[in-house]
Amino acid sequence: MSYQTLPKVELHLHLEGAAPPTFIAGLAQEKNIDISGIFDEKGGYAYLDFDHFLKVYEAACTTLQTPDDFRRLTLAVLEESASNGVVYSEAFLSPDFCGGGDLDAWRDYLAAIADAAVEAERTMGITLRGIVTGIRHFGPEKCNVAARCAAETMGDFITGYGMAGNEMVGRPGDYAYSFDMAREAGLRLTCHAGEWGGAAMVSETIRDLRVERIGHGIGGVSDPALVEEIAEKGIVLEVCPGSNVVLNAVEGWGSHPIARLRDAGVPVTVSTDDPPFFHTTMTQEYEMLDQTFGWGENDFAALNAAALKAAFCDEDTRANVAKRLELTND
Ligand code: HPA
Ligand code: ZN
Repeated sequence: MSYQTLPKVELHLHLEGAAPPTFIAGLAQEKNIDISGIFDEKGGYAYLDFDHFLKVYEAACTTLQTPDDFRRLTLAVLEESASNGVVYSEAFLSPDFCGGGDLDAWRDYLAAIADAAVEAERTMGITLRGIVTGIRHFGPEKCNVAARCAAETMGDFITGYGMAGNEMVGRPGDYAYSFDMAREAGLRLTCHAGEWGGAAMVSETIRDLRVERIGHGIGGVSDPALVEEIAEKGIVLEVCPGSNVVLNAVEGWGSHPIARLRDAGVPVTVSTDDPPFFHTTMTQEYEMLDQTFGWGENDFAALNAAALKAAFCDEDTRANVAKRLELTND
């Protein structure tokens, strides 16, 4: 069956990484920027491995130069998400790509993104919240700047702080200051860990950064005591199976640990990460989970209920999205 129209909640989506390649190619042409090397012959993004993916990602971001570029990007991304049944989404937003960490510039970019979100909610029925994101391989200082941007603009739209990028750079504790700053400001916290790092990376992230959600987290599966701890503490994993398969973080769909983690009582959710880079959509993620593990409507209802419960939004928004998911009778 097609899961396209099934209402969905997505918690792990990088705004720039969700940019359709045609959108980025169009901006490059408008601005006379030569980034032809990042596309394959069919116009899709081309990269060799995770490190190269991050480089191609950053090259694509050089075309995003003004708040209006981000307004248009947000509308293009939300249109794609809404067409896959997503009714609530959280996007990672990076001050590093929105004015280079300058707080006044960040406010301008953010206003444009939030404007687009209001328009998308009205016209497409999708709600967006923003998670300000530090980029780990840019180093702790830049993450502190990102966290300051987050703390200064926290509110109805910016509700969380997180960290993405290459998790093999430094240890989680090196980034504790930025997470402490964000926590003190009242932001909810998530961090990429266990996409490439093993169980120790996940465990240090929980201990040193005190996050309530983990981006990916699949590396934790090798340590049964950690899996038990995650389940007991109710730490939510933002699992992105299609991303893991395409980037070779796992051998294939059949060996993806999402089903084992779920069966061990870990609250798992499903997201696309950077959908055009990984040739995926939320519809396709659901179809692959159905084909691989035999998951069906009840499993997806439980996934969406877990995601909504873990969403970084206020209670009115949660209740409103629950209605759109038709979970109100549960
Ligand atoms: N992993 C880590 N950092 C990222 C990713 C990802 O998949 N996408 C954009 N930044
Ligand atoms: Zn990610």
